[in-house]
Amino acid sequence: MATLRDYRPDDLDRCTELVNQAWDFDGHLEHPAVATVAKDFYVNGSLAESRHYRVVEDDGVVLGLLFGAAGDGARFDNGYQGLLGALRMLGRLIGARGWGSGEKLRWLRAIRAHSVARRSVLAPSDTEVTLLAVDAAARGRGLGRQLMDEYIDLCRGLGKDRITVETDTHSNFGFYEHYGFERVGTFDSPMTRLFAGDTGETFVYVLDL
Ligand SMILES: CC(C)(COP(=O)(O)OP(=O)(O)OC[C@H]1O[C@@H](n2cnc3c(N)ncnc32)[C@H](O)[C@@H]1OP(=O)(O)O)[C@@H](O)C(=O)NCCC(=O)NCCS
Repeated sequence: MATLRDYRPDDLDRCTELVNQAWDFDGHLEHPAVATVAKDFYVNGSLAESRHYRVVEDDGVVLGLLFGAAGDGARFDNGYQGLLGALRMLGRLIGARGWGSGEKLRWLRAIRAHSVARRSVLAPSDTEVTLLAVDAAARGRGLGRQLMDEYIDLCRGLGKDRITVETDTHSNFGFYEHYGFERVGTFDSPMTRLFAGDTGETFVYVLDL
């Protein structure tokens, strides 16, 4: 029986593995330093934005995770919060060895363009699903539902009127549509193109609670 529990710092490697499996950073990002920064950006960057950080495990093995911005506690303390956290992430990108400065600049511009385009579609939200992934071998068994149902209940309990999520053509946006999330906007993101290695078409969905 799969059970839910809070994320712990010692889950980092396993969660990074699940994220890498879902978005294949090691496969499509040629340079290992770039893949490492991308994985860190996804897992630690999302955690730092999240007050809800849950994993689902079976027999002691973590099979999935959902991080969300809404919660009644503090954001996860991994040293990447706020301005200092953003600077630390920036330092990791700039300091990555064996990766040309022109490429780094291209990534920084892409991240900035993404953030501007996203804001033009939907303002930053305090209920965003910041990260969701289930082990490929365990999909279709209801684990994603367990994680999402819990987050929806939490948001309802907090009196929130909607949940937001950003996703893209490479990700399983059908899962959200199945839940009744409505696509409220689409934008072209050079960051999605770099990170996910897909078309760059990025979607914002909203679930009215
Ligand atoms: C999205 C994801 C977490 C779903 O996890 P999962 O454990 O396979 O999902 P579940 O088995 O709990 O499915 C829950 C429901 O969604 C439905 N569903 C899942 N994917 C679907 C799709 N593409 N289209 C329609 N329905 C879908 C299931 O049929 C199930 O329906 P039911 O509960 O009414 O019977 C998983 O596919 C994943 O990790 N994908 C890669 C990463 C990703 O895309 N993350 C989300 C986008 S940011």
